[in-house]
Amino acid sequence: MAGGIGSRFWPLSTQKFPKQFQDILGTGRTMIQQTYDRISKMIPNENIFVITNKEYVSLSHQQLPEIPEENIVGEPLMKNTAACNLYMANKIAEINPDATMVVLPADHLILKENVFLEKLELAFQQASANDYLVTLGITPTRPDTGYGYIQFVDKKDSDYYKVKTFTEKPILELAKSFLESGDFLWNAGIFIWNVKSIFSAFETHLPEMTQHFTACEYNAESEKSCIELIYPKVQKISIDNGILEKAKNVYVIPADLGWSDLGTWTSVFENSEKDENENSINIKSALTYQSQGNIIHVKNNNKAIVIDGLKDYIVVDTEKVLLICPREHDQLIKDYVLDLKSLK
Ligand code: GDD
Ligand code: MG
Repeated sequence: MAGGIGSRFWPLSTQKFPKQFQDILGTGRTMIQQTYDRISKMIPNENIFVITNKEYVSLSHQQLPEIPEENIVGEPLMKNTAACNLYMANKIAEINPDATMVVLPADHLILKENVFLEKLELAFQQASANDYLVTLGITPTRPDTGYGYIQFVDKKDSDYYKVKTFTEKPILELAKSFLESGDFLWNAGIFIWNVKSIFSAFETHLPEMTQHFTACEYNAESEKSCIELIYPKVQKISIDNGILEKAKNVYVIPADLGWSDLGTWTSVFENSEKDENENSINIKSALTYQSQGNIIHVKNNNKAIVIDGLKDYIVVDTEKVLLICPREHDQLIKDYVLDLKSLK
């Protein structure tokens, strides 16, 4: 899935050039390329699909020349992740009605690749043999309101568990209580399911959306025009809110992946090198005094920056935008983007 605009990661991530197509940590590979590098160790190129907005089809193709061109699928509108999952499940079922899919976000950092592949293997086994919707779960480290929280039924000596509750993006108080209880995992946003299981979940929980997609033929001449026709009518909802919060057959595999959703400036802060005052600064020409815990990201590295007396702030300077906000407000950045749009 590579159709988001990463608005919490503004102003570096923009509608024209979203973060999944950028080399955020300076590794030499963009986020979507790193996602491909990981999964291509398990899945052959002809079985790898990218679903993104039609605006990013050529960018996806440029960055992933290994994937057959017809496997890069463009959506006419941004409808969030339920629609893109149902679209892909329909396309995949047309090729193999018994297929098991692995759904990956295109913007994650995973340091322990071997563990990732091992857990996926287990998830594949479970999802191809059972009517299970499988997700990978991460031990939470902070009451982040940007994630899904999973509570599971604990039966000892197992490497997967039935999910009791799934709460997408809780308010802070709830996130804090989840963290304190010690019973919860973060949803990694990586899903594994058989196409039959996900179809049946959509039929139960998003029947209208199912009807729209059933009206189209896949792999047919008419697919594109049919998709253009139905997309404006399709509900805009995430797979988490639309399916995972409601389904009764969700299973979680706890996975210590060295995982991070590079979705916010805080997550970049946590994954980048810091100076002796715990500031993460991407340029050499910055002077800081009595300043701690800041993330300072400057696009023009010829610019001199001086910061005095600043604590736990985000400072991002691009050609068009200067953003200064407290680190703890990082979830509000997408609202700033909306407010700015309404100013224009
Ligand atoms: N094709 C397509 N179309 N892709 C999309 C769309 C869309 O309309 N919207 C988002 N995506 C892609 C994003 O590019 C990203 O790769 C992935 O789908 C997930 O979307 P995000 O917008 O990043 O989701 P999130 O981070 O808020 O929440 C999800 O991930 C968390 C972990 O990173 C949820 O699954 C949470 O429960 C989870 O904790
Ligand atoms: Mg994300």
